[in-house]
Amino acid sequence: MIDLRSDTVTKPSRAMKEAMMNAPVGDDVFVEDPTINELEEFAASMFGMEAGLFCPSGTMTNQIAIKVHTQPGDEVICSRESHIYCYEGGGIAVNSGISARLIEGKSGMITAEDVANNFNNPEDIHFPLTKLVSLENTSNRGGGLCYDLEEIRKIKQVCIEKNLKLHLDGARLFNALVATGQNSKDYGQLFDSISLCLSKGLGAPVGSVLIGNKEFIKKSRRVRKVLGGGMRQAGIIAAGGLFALKNNIERLSEDHLHAKILADAATTNPNMASVETPETNIVMINTHTDAQSMVANLKEKGILCMALGPKRIRLVTHLDITKSEIEFVAETLKTIVS
Ligand SMILES: Cc1ncc(COP(=O)(O)O)c(C=O)c1O
Repeated sequence: MIDLRSDTVTKPSRAMKEAMMNAPVGDDVFVEDPTINELEEFAASMFGMEAGLFCPSGTMTNQIAIKVHTQPGDEVICSRESHIYCYEGGGIAVNSGISARLIEGKSGMITAEDVANNFNNPEDIHFPLTKLVSLENTSNRGGGLCYDLEEIRKIKQVCIEKNLKLHLDGARLFNALVATGQNSKDYGQLFDSISLCLSKGLGAPVGSVLIGNKEFIKKSRRVRKVLGGGMRQAGIIAAGGLFALKNNIERLSEDHLHAKILADAATTNPNMASVETPETNIVMINTHTDAQSMVANLKEKGILCMALGPKRIRLVTHLDITKSEIEFVAETLKTIVS
Protein backbone atom coordinates (compact mmCIF):
# COMPACT_ATOMS: atom_id res chain seq x y z
CA MET A 1 0.00 0.00 0.00
CA ILE A 2 1.21 3.51 -0.84
CA ASP A 3 0.02 5.47 2.16
CA LEU A 4 -0.78 9.08 1.33
CA ARG A 5 -3.42 9.57 4.04
CA SER A 6 -1.13 11.80 6.09
CA ASP A 7 2.52 12.64 6.74
CA THR A 8 1.94 11.32 10.26
CA VAL A 9 2.28 7.73 8.98
CA THR A 10 6.07 7.95 8.54
CA LYS A 11 8.22 5.44 10.39
CA PRO A 12 11.61 6.22 11.94
CA SER A 13 14.59 5.44 9.71
CA ARG A 14 17.43 3.20 10.85
CA ALA A 15 19.66 6.23 11.51
CA MET A 16 16.92 7.90 13.53
CA LYS A 17 16.37 4.71 15.56
CA GLU A 18 20.11 4.52 16.28
CA ALA A 19 20.07 8.11 17.54
CA MET A 20 17.12 7.16 19.75
CA MET A 21 18.82 4.03 21.10
CA ASN A 22 21.96 5.93 22.00
CA ALA A 23 20.26 8.96 23.55
CA PRO A 24 21.32 9.94 27.07
CA VAL A 25 18.20 10.16 29.26
CA GLY A 26 17.08 11.41 32.66
CA ASP A 27 13.89 12.37 34.49
CA ASP A 28 12.28 15.13 32.45
CA VAL A 29 9.78 16.06 35.16
CA PHE A 30 12.91 17.08 37.11
CA VAL A 31 14.13 18.80 33.87
CA GLU A 32 17.03 16.33 33.92
CA ASP A 33 16.74 14.63 30.56
CA PRO A 34 19.76 15.89 28.57
CA THR A 35 18.28 14.91 25.21
CA ILE A 36 14.98 16.66 25.88
CA ASN A 37 16.80 19.72 27.19
CA GLU A 38 18.91 19.78 24.03
CA LEU A 39 15.86 19.37 21.79
CA GLU A 40 13.97 22.17 23.56
CA GLU A 41 16.92 24.55 23.36
CA PHE A 42 17.68 23.62 19.76
CA ALA A 43 14.09 24.12 18.60
CA ALA A 44 13.74 27.45 20.43
CA SER A 45 17.07 28.74 19.10
CA MET A 46 16.09 27.95 15.51
CA PHE A 47 13.39 30.62 15.91
CA GLY A 48 15.40 32.95 18.15
CA MET A 49 13.02 32.19 21.02
CA GLU A 50 14.01 31.74 24.65
CA ALA A 51 12.74 28.31 25.63
CA GLY A 52 10.94 25.15 24.56
CA LEU A 53 8.80 22.37 26.00
CA PHE A 54 8.69 18.83 24.62
CA CYS A 55 5.19 17.33 24.57
CA PRO A 56 3.68 14.07 23.32
CA SER A 57 1.58 15.68 20.58
CA GLY A 58 0.72 18.78 18.60
CA THR A 59 -2.71 18.71 20.14
CA MET A 60 -1.13 19.06 23.57
CA THR A 61 1.23 21.89 22.55
CA ASN A 62 -1.68 23.82 21.02
CA GLN A 63 -3.94 23.20 24.00
CA ILE A 64 -1.28 24.21 26.50
CA ALA A 65 -0.63 27.46 24.62
CA ILE A 66 -4.35 28.30 24.48
CA LYS A 67 -4.69 27.64 28.21
CA VAL A 68 -1.66 29.71 29.18
CA HIS A 69 -2.72 32.67 27.03
CA THR A 70 -6.35 32.82 28.24
CA GLN A 71 -8.72 32.71 31.23
CA PRO A 72 -12.09 30.88 31.26
CA GLY A 73 -14.70 32.98 29.46
CA ASP A 74 -12.21 34.54 27.02
CA GLU A 75 -12.34 34.11 23.25
CA VAL A 76 -9.81 32.99 20.63
CA ILE A 77 -10.03 34.16 17.02
CA CYS A 78 -9.21 31.37 14.55
CA SER A 79 -10.19 29.94 11.19
CA ARG A 80 -13.29 27.74 10.99
CA GLU A 81 -10.98 25.20 9.31
CA SER A 82 -8.30 25.29 12.00
CA HIS A 83 -7.04 22.14 13.67
CA ILE A 84 -7.48 23.65 17.14
CA TYR A 85 -11.20 24.00 16.40
CA CYS A 86 -11.96 21.03 14.11
CA TYR A 87 -9.76 18.26 15.39
CA GLU A 88 -8.81 18.71 19.03
CA GLY A 89 -11.94 17.17 20.52
CA GLY A 90 -13.41 20.45 21.70
CA GLY A 91 -10.29 20.97 23.81
CA ILE A 92 -10.61 24.75 23.56
CA ALA A 93 -13.78 24.47 25.66
CA VAL A 94 -12.75 21.50 27.80
CA ASN A 95 -9.25 22.57 28.78
CA SER A 96 -9.47 26.36 28.74
CA GLY A 97 -13.18 27.08 29.10
CA ILE A 98 -13.06 29.62 26.29
CA SER A 99 -15.07 30.17 23.12
CA ALA A 100 -13.83 30.30 19.55
CA ARG A 101 -14.66 33.16 17.20
CA LEU A 102 -14.62 31.34 13.88
CA ILE A 103 -13.47 33.13 10.75
CA GLU A 104 -14.65 31.83 7.38
CA GLY A 105 -11.37 32.95 5.81
CA LYS A 106 -9.86 31.47 2.69
CA SER A 107 -7.97 28.15 2.57
CA GLY A 108 -7.89 27.98 6.36
CA MET A 109 -6.18 31.34 6.65
CA ILE A 110 -7.35 34.61 8.18
CA THR A 111 -6.38 38.25 7.64
CA ALA A 112 -5.55 41.25 9.81
CA GLU A 113 -8.90 42.70 8.75
CA ASP A 114 -10.68 39.56 10.03
CA VAL A 115 -8.94 39.95 13.38
CA ALA A 116 -9.80 43.65 13.67
CA ASN A 117 -13.44 43.03 12.65
CA ASN A 118 -13.93 40.17 15.10
CA PHE A 119 -12.31 41.73 18.15
CA ASN A 120 -14.94 42.27 20.85
CA ASN A 121 -15.20 45.65 22.53
CA PRO A 122 -13.83 44.88 26.02
CA GLU A 123 -15.95 47.70 27.52
CA ASP A 124 -19.18 45.90 26.56
CA ILE A 125 -19.93 43.34 29.25
CA HIS A 126 -22.08 41.27 26.87
CA PHE A 127 -19.11 40.00 24.94
CA PRO A 128 -16.41 37.49 25.81
CA LEU A 129 -13.00 39.12 26.13
CA THR A 130 -10.96 38.53 22.98
CA LYS A 131 -7.52 37.49 24.20
CA LEU A 132 -5.88 35.30 21.59
CA VAL A 133 -5.42 34.88 17.84
CA SER A 134 -4.34 31.49 16.56
CA LEU A 135 -3.00 30.92 13.03
CA GLU A 136 -2.11 27.64 11.31
CA ASN A 137 0.82 27.47 8.88
CA THR A 138 0.75 25.53 6.70
CA SER A 139 -3.01 25.26 6.77
CA ASN A 140 -3.98 21.58 6.83
CA ARG A 141 -7.63 21.76 5.72
CA GLY A 142 -6.66 24.66 3.48
CA GLY A 143 -4.52 22.28 1.38
CA GLY A 144 -1.09 22.97 2.85
CA LEU A 145 -1.03 26.60 1.76
CA CYS A 146 1.42 29.06 3.31
CA TYR A 147 0.79 32.41 4.96
CA ASP A 148 2.25 35.52 3.42
CA LEU A 149 4.63 36.93 6.05
CA GLU A 150 3.38 40.46 5.33
CA GLU A 151 -0.15 39.42 6.33
CA ILE A 152 1.19 37.91 9.56
CA ARG A 153 3.00 41.21 10.25
CA LYS A 154 -0.30 43.06 9.80
CA ILE A 155 -2.07 40.57 12.10
CA LYS A 156 0.65 41.11 14.68
CA GLN A 157 0.12 44.86 14.46
CA VAL A 158 -3.59 44.42 15.23
CA CYS A 159 -2.65 42.10 18.13
CA ILE A 160 -0.32 44.75 19.55
CA GLU A 161 -3.00 47.46 19.22
CA LYS A 162 -5.67 45.27 20.85
CA ASN A 163 -3.39 43.62 23.40
CA LEU A 164 -3.89 40.09 22.01
CA LYS A 165 -1.52 37.15 22.16
CA LEU A 166 -0.60 35.48 18.88
CA HIS A 167 -0.16 31.68 18.70
CA LEU A 168 0.96 29.63 15.71
CA ASP A 169 -0.04 26.04 15.12
CA GLY A 170 3.12 25.26 13.18
CA ALA A 171 2.50 21.52 12.83
CA ARG A 172 3.90 21.92 9.29
CA LEU A 173 5.76 25.21 9.70
CA PHE A 174 8.96 23.72 8.29
CA ASN A 175 7.10 22.87 5.08
CA ALA A 176 6.12 26.54 4.84
CA LEU A 177 9.66 27.75 5.54
CA VAL A 178 11.17 25.45 2.93
CA ALA A 179 8.51 26.28 0.32
CA THR A 180 8.62 30.07 0.75
CA GLY A 181 12.21 30.68 1.85
CA GLN A 182 10.84 32.71 4.78
CA ASN A 183 13.13 33.19 7.78
CA SER A 184 12.35 31.20 10.94
CA LYS A 185 13.65 34.07 13.11
CA ASP A 186 10.91 36.34 11.73
CA TYR A 187 8.38 33.86 13.08
CA GLY A 188 10.09 33.86 16.47
CA GLN A 189 9.68 37.63 16.63
CA LEU A 190 6.06 37.73 15.49
CA PHE A 191 4.51 35.01 17.64
CA ASP A 192 4.10 34.69 21.41
CA SER A 193 4.10 30.91 21.05
CA ILE A 194 4.70 28.37 18.29
CA SER A 195 3.79 24.68 18.25
CA LEU A 196 6.17 22.61 16.10
CA CYS A 197 5.39 19.00 15.19
CA LEU A 198 8.22 16.49 14.83
CA SER A 199 6.03 13.54 13.88
CA LYS A 200 4.59 14.86 10.61
CA GLY A 201 6.75 15.66 7.56
CA LEU A 202 9.90 15.56 9.68
CA GLY A 203 9.46 11.83 10.20
CA ALA A 204 9.96 11.41 13.97
CA PRO A 205 7.69 8.84 15.60
CA VAL A 206 6.38 11.02 18.44
CA GLY A 207 6.35 14.54 19.74
CA SER A 208 5.94 18.26 19.36
CA VAL A 209 7.78 21.21 20.85
CA LEU A 210 6.13 24.36 22.15
CA ILE A 211 8.40 27.42 22.03
CA GLY A 212 8.08 30.88 23.51
CA ASN A 213 9.66 33.10 26.14
CA LYS A 214 10.90 31.72 29.48
CA GLU A 215 7.90 32.89 31.47
CA PHE A 216 5.45 31.37 28.98
CA ILE A 217 7.30 28.05 28.97
CA LYS A 218 7.45 28.00 32.77
CA LYS A 219 3.65 28.31 32.89
CA SER A 220 3.33 25.77 30.06
CA ARG A 221 5.41 23.23 31.99
CA ARG A 222 2.86 23.42 34.82
CA VAL A 223 -0.08 22.95 32.42
CA ARG A 224 1.69 20.02 30.74
CA LYS A 225 1.94 18.35 34.16
CA VAL A 226 -1.75 18.98 34.84
CA LEU A 227 -2.66 17.37 31.53
CA GLY A 228 -0.53 14.33 32.35
CA GLY A 229 2.09 15.14 29.76
CA GLY A 230 5.07 15.20 32.13
CA MET A 231 7.11 12.24 30.89
CA ARG A 232 10.19 10.73 32.50
CA GLN A 233 13.07 9.25 30.43
CA ALA A 234 11.42 10.49 27.25
CA GLY A 235 14.76 11.53 25.75
CA ILE A 236 14.56 8.20 23.98
CA ILE A 237 11.75 9.63 21.83
CA ALA A 238 12.98 13.24 21.85
CA ALA A 239 16.17 11.98 20.18
CA GLY A 240 14.07 11.09 17.11
CA GLY A 241 12.79 14.66 17.01
CA LEU A 242 16.27 16.12 17.42
CA PHE A 243 17.52 13.90 14.60
CA ALA A 244 14.59 15.08 12.46
CA LEU A 245 15.34 18.77 13.08
CA LYS A 246 18.99 18.23 12.17
CA ASN A 247 18.47 16.02 9.11
CA ASN A 248 14.98 16.13 7.65
CA ILE A 249 14.08 19.75 7.00
CA GLU A 250 15.74 20.55 3.67
CA ARG A 251 14.47 17.33 2.09
CA LEU A 252 10.85 18.52 2.53
CA SER A 253 11.29 20.17 -0.89
CA GLU A 254 11.23 16.64 -2.38
CA ASP A 255 7.80 16.05 -0.87
CA HIS A 256 6.65 19.37 -2.32
CA LEU A 257 7.89 18.37 -5.76
CA HIS A 258 6.09 15.05 -5.43
CA ALA A 259 2.87 16.86 -4.53
CA LYS A 260 3.17 18.97 -7.70
CA ILE A 261 3.69 15.83 -9.81
CA LEU A 262 0.50 14.31 -8.36
CA ALA A 263 -1.51 17.52 -8.80
CA ASP A 264 -0.37 17.91 -12.43
CA ALA A 265 -1.37 14.31 -13.17
CA ALA A 266 -4.79 14.65 -11.54
CA THR A 267 -5.46 17.85 -13.49
CA THR A 268 -5.42 15.86 -16.75
CA ASN A 269 -8.18 13.53 -15.49
CA PRO A 270 -11.65 14.68 -16.66
CA ASN A 271 -13.19 12.80 -13.72
CA MET A 272 -11.77 15.41 -11.36
CA ALA A 273 -13.75 18.64 -10.93
CA SER A 274 -10.65 20.62 -9.99
CA VAL A 275 -7.22 20.22 -8.46
CA GLU A 276 -5.94 22.86 -6.06
CA THR A 277 -2.39 24.01 -6.81
CA PRO A 278 -0.21 22.63 -4.01
CA GLU A 279 2.34 24.86 -2.29
CA THR A 280 3.76 22.18 0.01
CA ASN A 281 3.09 18.46 0.58
CA ILE A 282 -0.72 18.38 0.51
CA VAL A 283 -2.74 17.76 -2.65
CA MET A 284 -6.45 18.59 -2.57
CA ILE A 285 -8.63 17.20 -5.33
CA ASN A 286 -12.28 18.11 -5.80
CA THR A 287 -14.26 15.27 -7.35
CA HIS A 288 -17.43 15.41 -9.47
CA THR A 289 -18.95 12.54 -7.53
CA ASP A 290 -18.69 10.91 -4.11
CA ALA A 291 -15.21 11.35 -2.64
CA GLN A 292 -15.54 8.14 -0.59
CA SER A 293 -15.94 6.04 -3.73
CA MET A 294 -12.86 7.72 -5.27
CA VAL A 295 -10.95 6.84 -2.08
CA ALA A 296 -12.20 3.23 -2.33
CA ASN A 297 -11.20 2.96 -6.00
CA LEU A 298 -7.72 4.29 -5.25
CA LYS A 299 -7.42 1.78 -2.41
CA GLU A 300 -8.14 -1.02 -4.85
CA LYS A 301 -5.12 0.19 -6.85
CA GLY A 302 -2.99 0.11 -3.69
CA ILE A 303 -3.15 3.82 -2.87
CA LEU A 304 -4.44 5.12 0.45
CA CYS A 305 -5.77 8.67 0.77
CA MET A 306 -8.53 10.45 2.68
CA ALA A 307 -11.86 12.12 1.92
CA LEU A 308 -11.87 15.56 3.51
CA GLY A 309 -15.38 16.45 2.41
CA PRO A 310 -18.23 14.89 0.40
CA LYS A 311 -16.44 15.76 -2.86
CA ARG A 312 -12.90 16.42 -1.75
CA ILE A 313 -9.94 14.11 -1.32
CA ARG A 314 -6.54 14.77 0.22
CA LEU A 315 -3.20 13.13 -0.58
CA VAL A 316 -0.16 13.95 1.55
CA THR A 317 3.39 13.26 0.38
CA HIS A 318 6.12 12.43 2.88
CA LEU A 319 9.57 10.98 3.36
CA ASP A 320 8.51 7.33 3.24
CA ILE A 321 7.21 7.70 -0.33
CA THR A 322 9.68 6.98 -3.13
CA LYS A 323 9.90 8.62 -6.55
CA SER A 324 8.74 5.43 -8.27
CA GLU A 325 5.71 5.23 -5.98
CA ILE A 326 4.90 8.83 -6.89
CA GLU A 327 5.17 7.94 -10.58
CA PHE A 328 2.75 5.04 -10.06
CA VAL A 329 0.27 7.22 -8.15
CA ALA A 330 0.54 9.95 -10.82
CA GLU A 331 -0.25 7.45 -13.60
CA THR A 332 -3.22 6.16 -11.61
CA LEU A 333 -4.55 9.67 -10.92
CA LYS A 334 -4.62 10.38 -14.67
CA THR A 335 -7.39 7.84 -15.27
CA ILE A 336 -9.05 6.88 -11.99
CA VAL A 337 -12.84 7.12 -11.87
CA SER A 338 -15.14 7.40 -8.88
C1 LIG B 1 -2.35 21.51 11.61
C2 LIG B 1 -2.26 20.49 12.70
N1 LIG B 1 -2.13 20.91 13.96
C3 LIG B 1 -2.04 20.06 14.99
C4 LIG B 1 -2.06 18.70 14.78
C5 LIG B 1 -2.04 17.79 15.98
O1 LIG B 1 -0.95 16.98 16.05
P1 LIG B 1 -1.01 15.59 16.87
O2 LIG B 1 -1.60 14.61 15.95
O3 LIG B 1 0.44 15.36 17.17
O4 LIG B 1 -1.81 15.84 18.09
C6 LIG B 1 -2.19 18.20 13.47
C7 LIG B 1 -2.24 16.74 13.24
O5 LIG B 1 -2.32 16.26 12.15
C8 LIG B 1 -2.30 19.13 12.41
O6 LIG B 1 -2.45 18.72 11.15
